[in-house]
Amino acid sequence: MKQIIIQFGGTGDLAQKKLYPAYENLQGEGYDFILIALGRRFATKEDFLEAMVRPEASKAFLDILDYLQYDMSDEQGATDLLSSHLSSLVQEGEDVSIIYYMALQPSLYEDAIRQIQIVDSVISKKVNLAKKIVVEKPFGFDSETAKRYNNILLKAFSDEEIYRVDHYLGKEFMQNLLLLRFHNDIIRMIWDNRSIDSIQIIFDETHGVDQRLGFYEKIGVVRDTIQNHILQIITYLTMSDPTTLTPEDIAAEKAKVLRAISPPEEFYTGRYESLGAGSGHIVNTPTYAALKLSVNNYYMADIPIYIRTGKMQKEAKSLIYVKFKNKTQKVMNDSRIEDNSVIITIHPELTIDIVMNLKEPKTSWKSKPVRFRFNQAETFGANTPEAYEQIVQKILKGDKSLFPSMSEICESWRIVEPMLTEEYHMEVYPIRTLPRFANEMAQKNNFTWFA
Ligand code: BG6
Repeated sequence: MKQIIIQFGGTGDLAQKKLYPAYENLQGEGYDFILIALGRRFATKEDFLEAMVRPEASKAFLDILDYLQYDMSDEQGATDLLSSHLSSLVQEGEDVSIIYYMALQPSLYEDAIRQIQIVDSVISKKVNLAKKIVVEKPFGFDSETAKRYNNILLKAFSDEEIYRVDHYLGKEFMQNLLLLRFHNDIIRMIWDNRSIDSIQIIFDETHGVDQRLGFYEKIGVVRDTIQNHILQIITYLTMSDPTTLTPEDIAAEKAKVLRAISPPEEFYTGRYESLGAGSGHIVNTPTYAALKLSVNNYYMADIPIYIRTGKMQKEAKSLIYVKFKNKTQKVMNDSRIEDNSVIITIHPELTIDIVMNLKEPKTSWKSKPVRFRFNQAETFGANTPEAYEQIVQKILKGDKSLFPSMSEICESWRIVEPMLTEEYHMEVYPIRTLPRFANEMAQKNNFTWFA
């Protein structure tokens, strides 16, 4: 089957930074497809290539890549151009699969879908057409718009044909998290509220909003990372054992977790001081948040999950810290005995540490915490595929295991919606500093951030 990817938003940031490198690698690995980038910005393929594709890109990749200057506001012109270009690429009666990748603002979906329908009607007269559509996170602006956008997509695609991307599901650490939990009896047996004391999820980024201000100021941290990446991490961390690791069984367990999460018990936001400086207008969008929530099922209830995430921090740190109950201190009557923990570090390096207490030499029965470390790069080499490569590979294969379902997306909006109101006080924090509320929340809840 001939596969053709049509990249809407083909001159945008996401396409340039993540998608073209992913396509290039996959093409190099032998995946067979044609790529048509659509955008308004460049008049010629040469200008497009110079600005959007790395100069060292292989000739083979450039051969399968086409660029069309596509002006969505001129529907007739645009659809004529795309239909005739597609027609020139396919043979009469051929089996063709078209993947429409929408790296577009959702407000343009309606126009795009209408144009896709026109193009489809032309092409399907010539070939046996199969199709898929790919949309990015955040899917919608809240529950209501997510449903509205979904209905727009359903005009031209079945649910099976819709791929809703959350690139965190393409990350190696996420998939490892499931295997750590469900391919290891010793971990499985301690992974519930009888043993776990609390969980921290820390996602600190050093960069700001930069050239994405236009997008980000409408979105803010809750829609940008909490509604999707963070909640997806929580589903992987807390879901019960799926019957098998098939997409359907995993999705069923994830849905149960999301349904068991109530809106956060505590929530704080801030924005960095210089946000929007130079834009000529005041930008009051949250760029940092800290929150506490829990998963209210028999296995996970009463484990507080503390989350902090946001931009313009001193150090880039992404990690999950699972702290275990420390009954030993009491039983041994020794307050120096440290906590056991599992630490999954995603950035700067992918490592998993299990922290246990062992004897410190030259002492009498004094223990010291030691880390048993797995380092992804040392064990498996540095060539773990990038998240977007795994995502695109699954789309090409028609495997939906790394894509949240519409019901997961709706549940996630339900959880975060109370955080989207304007009522919250927003702390303005100097860049490279942690907003004060992060430590205040820790003090109030009697814990210390692991990093
Ligand atoms: C994106 C967000 O989805 O994820 C960005 O829009 C964020 O704001 C990014 O920086 C983080 O992804 P990664 O892969 O760099 O951890």
